Amino acid sequence: MDGNGRWATRRFLPRVAGHKQGVAALSRCVQACIDRGIGVLTVFAFSSENWNRPEEEVSGLLELLVLSLSGEVPRLKSNGVRLHFVGNRERLSDKVQAGLRQAELLTADNTRLVFNVCFNYGGRWDIAQAAQKLVNSGQPITELSLDRAMALAHVPDPDLLIRTGGELRISNFLIWQAAYSELYFSDKLWPDFDSAELDKAIAVFSSRERRFGQTSAQVSALKREPTPLT
Ligand code: IPE
Ligand code: MG
Repeated sequence: MDGNGRWATRRFLPRVAGHKQGVAALSRCVQACIDRGIGVLTVFAFSSENWNRPEEEVSGLLELLVLSLSGEVPRLKSNGVRLHFVGNRERLSDKVQAGLRQAELLTADNTRLVFNVCFNYGGRWDIAQAAQKLVNSGQPITELSLDRAMALAHVPDPDLLIRTGGELRISNFLIWQAAYSELYFSDKLWPDFDSAELDKAIAVFSSRERRFGQTSAQVSALKREPTPLT
């Protein structure tokens, strides 16, 4: 979700005002995913590297997280959304940690949309913590065991990865899980990313051929094969 700061600066507003609009855009995006029957939404809210931003912006973002929890969780709960926070919680205050746990507990029975909010997250952190978990429990490190020890083991790999704000980078987001994701880059700043933009991304995604290492001919043959009756 990139572009909040630029959205604010263009309007001569403080950057935090852009992040506030970002939360509103996220809330609309969650609803758009529900309306479209999407099962999993994972967003990058705060990276391990974002601590290096000016102190005022970092505290603004943390405050916004707490505010958004109380503002959004009741609606998420009644809309069938199950919340997961993904990332290293150690550096967060006890109050914030308790808020995250409570939001997860309150929505734990929901099944319509799994909503992963990556906060103090980094793809390299995830790979390292997964490897450490396996070492600690004496398990061999394989692709499968690592995959299962990852912080996002509860959802399948993403089909589509969208980055807004015009930057053509992954920036340490889902670097393990996005191995076969279709990438979509939008020039829209995140607060301006709306359901029409989401539909554009989905349309582009639908027009792509996903081969997973196979040839185009193999993929077409597989598509023609009748599904066996069970
Ligand atoms: C949001 O956009 C990303 C967060 C860390 C919350 P930015 O704050 O990176 O916005 P730009 O790139 O400065 O416009
Ligand atoms: Mg940015």
